[in-house]
Amino acid sequence: MIAIGSDHGGYELKEHIKKHLEAIGEEYKDYGTYSEDSVDYPDCAAPVCKAVQDGTADKGILICGTGIGISMAANKHKGIRAALCSDVYSAKMTKVHNNANVICLGGRVTGRELAFMIVDAWLNAEFEGGRHEQRIAKIHKIEEQ
Ligand code: RB5
Repeated sequence: MIAIGSDHGGYELKEHIKKHLEAIGEEYKDYGTYSEDSVDYPDCAAPVCKAVQDGTADKGILICGTGIGISMAANKHKGIRAALCSDVYSAKMTKVHNNANVICLGGRVTGRELAFMIVDAWLNAEFEGGRHEQRIAKIHKIEEQ
């Protein structure tokens, strides 16, 4: 199951991505926000990150206006590897090399069709493991400091 969330800046793209996930047969749960009323992106990142942390969701999709704030907030949550992507290559490689468990998008930056391609590239890619395991372990070691 994919946990999806956004702030008001990402709300419109979130609604489009939900329809896309339905079209490709991916199960998701929407953790809000549920309108274009102004909210704070760290509050929107938190429930999605929690769902990934506790295993309720396998992965998460987070969207704000640029994707920057919500990715910054997401990466403060232990065990979360959130990647802000605006191109298909990065979306694929952040799964293959970084095993990103959350992908972030900018609703005011990335067009709808490109966003679908980014999501698909990430969903369809596989983590390569091997030397990348130790690098990810080093990222999470930082969380202990
Ligand atoms: C909200 O106006 C905007 O600041 C937010 O969506 C995001 O772009 C922050 O990084």
